[in-house]
Amino acid sequence: MAPSVADLEQKVQTGVTPNIADLKAAVQAVVSAGIPGPNLSAEILPPLSYPHLAPIEGENKISPPLQPFEHVDAASRADPKLPRLLNDKTKTHHLSPYLGTEISGVQISQLSKQGLDELSLYTAQRKVLIFRDQDFADLPPERQIEIVGHYGPLHEHPTAPQLEGFDNFIASLRQKGKKAYRAEYNVEDNLSYTLWHSDVSYERQPPATTFFWLLDQPEVGGDTLFLSQVEAYNRLSPEFRKRLETLRAIHSGVEQAEGSRKAGGVVRREGITTEHPVVRVHPVTGEKALFVNKGFTRSIVGFKKEESDALLNFLYDHIAKGADFQVRATYQKGTVVIWDNRIVAHSAVPDYGKEQRRHFLRLTPQGEVPIPASA
Ligand SMILES: [Fe+2]
Repeated sequence: MAPSVADLEQKVQTGVTPNIADLKAAVQAVVSAGIPGPNLSAEILPPLSYPHLAPIEGENKISPPLQPFEHVDAASRADPKLPRLLNDKTKTHHLSPYLGTEISGVQISQLSKQGLDELSLYTAQRKVLIFRDQDFADLPPERQIEIVGHYGPLHEHPTAPQLEGFDNFIASLRQKGKKAYRAEYNVEDNLSYTLWHSDVSYERQPPATTFFWLLDQPEVGGDTLFLSQVEAYNRLSPEFRKRLETLRAIHSGVEQAEGSRKAGGVVRREGITTEHPVVRVHPVTGEKALFVNKGFTRSIVGFKKEESDALLNFLYDHIAKGADFQVRATYQKGTVVIWDNRIVAHSAVPDYGKEQRRHFLRLTPQGEVPIPASA
């Protein structure tokens, strides 16, 4: 008897049937048998490219609170001419005058410590780097940790899925039948999937030079949007900027923790609220950047609710409409995207079909306590 479609999907998702030719023959057998079903070819996913990097499911652990530390930015040690990163073998392509550069001809895995320092400085300057043709995804996790750990203690996310044995990786597998899949496609109450944010900005020392790479990607879509919070700040009038520089805002991880709990996910650390300056200064470049985001900023300290909502909503509208200081990072096999989380906001673009799969990893070094522009 031919296997059912559900049997086949189960086998594919668990990686029990790695032979594609067998799989296609089995699907054909189902079709030939006249068993009704939706678009079979679109419903069947091949095995994961990196099955050993699938996230842990059903984890339930408590982690200790993050500890304060003194952050020394790797970019502060870099040779400003960036000779190890940008040389005659390196090709660069800028996506916008304000942010975003595609780089090829250099392997992150081959950079010395000085080269990694330069990478940090260039990330701060260009805000988002899109490295092509990297062997990074094939490095052992320990080596990936060693490279990204160069930039600061690696953050353990309070709610995101992890890799077995590695607390600091975010490992996300979005495909039909997985938990993240439902949340990803929930647009019942919203017109768009876009949610501009700075990762875990509620932490006392939010992340800095963040590494993100895909292991499996949809045929089309699944890009990431980035915007320059430096340019967003620069567009405001001098008088308005002056006022913003005196303000502080509350960022909250409470809703994220509650959301995870409600969805049956893990809460490793309870959500915290933290006060940060509305305008922060990059510790190395000295650039000023807006540091509010719709994802985690909740209120302006000292303002009444209507005042706070009006100001924050104005700023959120301003950055969302700024297509002239936004870029779109696309992914190919071997792409690693690195951003300076202190001075950009980003949004996932989960526009790909429900039958598609997206599997990614992220390592997230923490940075300094945000430096206020008013200091
Ligand atoms: Fe994010």
